[in-house]
Amino acid sequence: MSDEQPELESYPPSPEFAANANATAALYDEAEADRLAFWAAQANRLHWATPFTEVLDWSGAPFAKWFGDGKLNVAYNCVDRHVEAGNGDRVALHWEGEPVGDARSITYAELKDEVCRAANALTDLGVGKGDRVAIYMPMIPEAVVAMLACARVGALHSVVFAGYSAAALRARIEDAEAKMVITSDGQYRRGAAAPLKPGVDEALSGMGDCPVRNVLVVRRTGIDTPMTEGRDLWWDEVMNTVSNEHTPEAFESEHPLFLLYTSGTTGKPKGVVHTSGGYLTQSAYTHFNVFDLKPETDVYWCTADIGWVTGHTYIVYGPLANGATQVLYEGTPASPDEHRHFQVIDKYKVTIYYTAPTVIRTFMRWGRELVREHDLSSLRLLGSVGEPINPEAWRWYRHVMGKDQTPVVDTWWQTETGAIMISPLPGVTDCKPGSAMRPLPGISAKIVDDDGNELQPAPEFGGEATGYLVLDKPWPSMLRGVWGDPERFKETYWSRFAEQGWYFAGDGARYGSDGEVWVLGRIDDVMNVSGHRISTAEVESALVGHAGVAEAAVVGATDAHTGQAICAFVILKEHAAAQSTEDMVHELRAEVAREISPIAKPREIHVVPELPKTRSGKIMRRLLRDVAEGRELGDTSTLLDPKVFEAIRAAK
Ligand code: WTA
Repeated sequence: MSDEQPELESYPPSPEFAANANATAALYDEAEADRLAFWAAQANRLHWATPFTEVLDWSGAPFAKWFGDGKLNVAYNCVDRHVEAGNGDRVALHWEGEPVGDARSITYAELKDEVCRAANALTDLGVGKGDRVAIYMPMIPEAVVAMLACARVGALHSVVFAGYSAAALRARIEDAEAKMVITSDGQYRRGAAAPLKPGVDEALSGMGDCPVRNVLVVRRTGIDTPMTEGRDLWWDEVMNTVSNEHTPEAFESEHPLFLLYTSGTTGKPKGVVHTSGGYLTQSAYTHFNVFDLKPETDVYWCTADIGWVTGHTYIVYGPLANGATQVLYEGTPASPDEHRHFQVIDKYKVTIYYTAPTVIRTFMRWGRELVREHDLSSLRLLGSVGEPINPEAWRWYRHVMGKDQTPVVDTWWQTETGAIMISPLPGVTDCKPGSAMRPLPGISAKIVDDDGNELQPAPEFGGEATGYLVLDKPWPSMLRGVWGDPERFKETYWSRFAEQGWYFAGDGARYGSDGEVWVLGRIDDVMNVSGHRISTAEVESALVGHAGVAEAAVVGATDAHTGQAICAFVILKEHAAAQSTEDMVHELRAEVAREISPIAKPREIHVVPELPKTRSGKIMRRLLRDVAEGRELGDTSTLLDPKVFEAIRAAK
């Protein structure tokens, strides 16, 4: 095995896997022969109340319309359809709470009842087509029910990760003008119950003109929870008063399904907009083919949180559209101890496991002996998402968890792409550890240079040209805009290669020796910490929000465990400089947690006398990254004052 040259390794699927795979090489040929007919066929795996006649309208580029004259109900497709097909007794969710022994299995028929009740409740509370609902919840079945109920009545959900602060929640509620918030009294995290609802109260109380009329509160922990008369309602009490019958209305294919806020290159998060027909088509298609889902026999587990896009597409919409049985786990991998994920795999005989490289690297630290205490023989496919997976982690994943048998699919995609774009097909592709390999059938991507010329597949390895990863043809689950800001949508994604009309993903990539894609990570000011997207500007703005900070610069430095780690450099105002640096750093970390989330807390904060700037006043992040990673400085010729580094190094 070659450590330095993963490009020379090849892991083909076993003949048995290939023989039984959902997707064969023919899928590439079909898509190649007629791309739109191919997508029409994928869309027709769904139930359309009004069939579409037009596949794609790209005349309003970059605003696409997919299956534009068709109508469907997304929740009907994810739930009712399976019950009507006679699969009501199939388990949809094996929910596993964080406290051991706290578990509940929910069939598709039960899920249908719950979703119908919740849809009736939303209607009774005046939430309907086009309204926005913020969902701020832990990983409990009610979160899935709440999302599907919104979809059922045509309201857009905006799920806000329950680890985000009240301030972050407030900004998202305000931007979306959400009419309702659905939350829980609290959540279990690392063995303890922590309150969650007070965060909602804090978010709403800080708002001038509050758009929220009701807060629905699920009882999860039983902690004492203050309720505001006339505004707050207990979920169970409301659900008890409504019927479990609800007739779904069909909405246009382009009716918006949800907003999901994600970090961009500015301090203000963007509300990425996804719509119904195209999104569900690609979610279901990719889930079926990339994970080789056999709905009758597989037990699928995606370990993401519903607060992120992976939870939307590969816990809620893709798997449920395909009638899958899946595990939904509330807690962290180390609760109550490091055995938890492996116990859950064994308990439910999980066959397909989809996680992030940071989780795999955590398992590696715990050691293979621990893993080997468990029976993981049910696993037949492993997936990775969220950041580039290092070859070592990829090999470990396949070797230790997959017993050298299971295909490993490294799936590249983004909040904006809605669903997987570049990934192996597990029964077809000879995988290389660390490469997402090729665009899926129906998807087109290129790696290009500054001028948009396609790079050549590298003739040899190491040090070859890297370029920009672009998507040169529209795809069904593409974002349809940034909420309330069409200009920002065009500027962010479509301006870099405006002439060619390509979407620029923000990632750098290179071709490998067989023309496969190696994604190298973000080349804009977005950091990726344990698979979480955080913008440098967002953290900078939280830091300068502190009264003692004059200026701040934030960079992502390479970190062996979290992929990237946040490193901040701050200049203090004169009055704050008297305070001890240690206290100040402590306060600033707390400030970032308060403004954004504990996940955005910098690993390091350096108090420095000056920041490196160009003559035009731009902070030179590249140089700060060199400092943070302990490298020799790169080119400093454009620096206004080359001596600042002596001062920064001295402070570090
Ligand atoms: C990174 C998560 C390399 C990439 C679905 C992308 C990856 C960003 C991979 C999107 C992968 C995600 N290989 N990099 N397999 N998957 N990324 O929006 O930088 O949270 O642009 O979506 O994560 O992050 P997001």
